[in-house]
Amino acid sequence: MDLGLEGKVAVVNGASQGIGFAIARTLAGEGARVAVSGRREPALDAAVDDITRTTGGELHAIPGDIRRARDCERIVAGAVARFGGLDILVNNDGAPPLGSFLEFDDEAWRRAVDRNLMSVVRCIRAAAPHMKARGAGSIVNITALSAIQPIAGFGLSVATWAGVIGLAKTLSRELAPEITVNTLAPGLIDTPRMRLVAEQSPDEMNGLIGDIPLGRLGDADEVAATVAFLASPRGRYITGTMLAVDGGLSRATF
Ligand SMILES: NC(=O)c1ccc[n+]([C@@H]2O[C@H](COP(=O)([O-])OP(=O)(O)OC[C@H]3O[C@@H](n4cnc5c(N)ncnc54)[C@H](OP(=O)(O)O)[C@@H]3O)[C@@H](O)[C@H]2O)c1
Repeated sequence: MDLGLEGKVAVVNGASQGIGFAIARTLAGEGARVAVSGRREPALDAAVDDITRTTGGELHAIPGDIRRARDCERIVAGAVARFGGLDILVNNDGAPPLGSFLEFDDEAWRRAVDRNLMSVVRCIRAAAPHMKARGAGSIVNITALSAIQPIAGFGLSVATWAGVIGLAKTLSRELAPEITVNTLAPGLIDTPRMRLVAEQSPDEMNGLIGDIPLGRLGDADEVAATVAFLASPRGRYITGTMLAVDGGLSRATF
């Protein structure tokens, strides 16, 4: 199936490694022109070189930190300046620290809100007018299964991503009919971040994998393929959805 992504313009945040990298590579492989962000410039440049070499796609690196309002605006403006418009925004980054609720003060909460929620608010606020101007656009937010099936110690990310999920549902009505807004909840995905966890706590990791019906970690390319479909003209009738990409790990019926 041709997804119809040829020539589309995408911004993928947090794309120097892991899930964001796989999304940028998949979109570029489908013919989209992709602006990518991340804080570490050398890692971002290496990612762009890798994707350009392997897909022949057109990439543009915009180093930046999406916790900063001006960087969100600069990333979107940079993509539009380079490629002449914007069709797709993928909100993705790292995550706030894990830990006991009683350990985190207001400053830790402020940072988590800036990172997970306000980055999404600011990037969508910058991107939506460009999508409206084109008459179509897709926004996909990457959160985590823990946001809908909470885990003790994940309070900063669960609470802030709950805000993203609510915002996405609201915007799926408010930005319609031109713009679709969907949210993915990855389960356990094999990325550099997850490999670190596995190295530090191999027994715990094996226990977690044992609870996944499909019996393995997800591949970042499997998340990326789902994003590519939702962001493409083929996925245009899907909006306001929260979709788990988790090998069946979620125990919820709906
Ligand atoms: N892997 C999993 O199993 C899993 C499961 C559920 C949800 N998730 C979520 O999915 C997202 C991606 O996970 P991942 O495993 O791919 O993480 P990762 O391997 O740590 O990659 C994160 C990427 O985001 C960039 N980034 C981090 N903070 C940023 C910021 N403030 N501004 C711009 N870029 C930033 C990083 O580059 P720089 O460090 O250079 O900025 C890197 O390219 C995270 O939110 C994670 O919580 C992951």
